[in-house]
Amino acid sequence: MNMDKNAGSGTLNLLQITDSHLTKDSKSDLLGVVTRDSLDAVLKLVEKNIAGQEHPAPDFLLASGDIAQDASNEAYQYFNDETEALCSKSGWFSGNHDDTLVMTGSLSDKAKFSKVFRFDHWQLILLDSSVKGSVHGELAASELSLLEQVLAERPDLHTLVCLHHHPVDIGSVWLDRIGLHNRDEFFKVLDKFDNVRGVIWGHIHQEWESERNGVRLFATPSTCIQFLPKSSGFAVENIAPGYRNLSLHTNGQIESRVYRADDFKFDLDLKSTGY
Ligand SMILES: [Fe+2]
Repeated sequence: MNMDKNAGSGTLNLLQITDSHLTKDSKSDLLGVVTRDSLDAVLKLVEKNIAGQEHPAPDFLLASGDIAQDASNEAYQYFNDETEALCSKSGWFSGNHDDTLVMTGSLSDKAKFSKVFRFDHWQLILLDSSVKGSVHGELAASELSLLEQVLAERPDLHTLVCLHHHPVDIGSVWLDRIGLHNRDEFFKVLDKFDNVRGVIWGHIHQEWESERNGVRLFATPSTCIQFLPKSSGFAVENIAPGYRNLSLHTNGQIESRVYRADDFKFDLDLKSTGY
């Protein structure tokens, strides 16, 4: 558990950077997009938006999985090098393309792999929904019991629950097959508590926002390729990579917006049938 006594008494500013799919090779691309270049373009946009006071500098960076495409040590180190200057405090967890052991072994700062981050008014719970060798997600019994225990411990804190896989269908047939399979068990835990304000994930490579029983639900564009919304089969969409900014207010309200690096030029392979 990670406690931050200096987080201030005001709004907590969060940056979500997701699905960077980085590789060992600096020039590798995913369907025509060089993933290190697209991440850099997104991070440059963050800097520009901070300088232009579009949103404040982040207090915390959430890296919500698929940081690496090839689960290489070099990919994780690159991600760390590029994001550290922007925000030294971050939380990472695995997506289906990551290898938790390699990822956690790649950094000396093990605080980045904490599962709970507590601030004055909020707590973030980071769950590992990855299943080794599988694309879909599942929360192990240990993750579900940790979720329940942490929520019960601090009913006074507003909570944002973070995981890689989507726990609700998003109307895309192929993606809905590879979401969180034991979502009923997940929501059974959440529904016992009234301090959960939001659930946020990666994996679907598109902007998504909804609400369930008063709990806000968010997903965010990848920093590389985007998947076409509402598609029955695999399809990519020719729109810019992006990130999400979230303002977690002391009263439990969440303000959030997605930003896209529209200046980033890339030559996306629109005919691809998979990645
Ligand atoms: Fe991904």
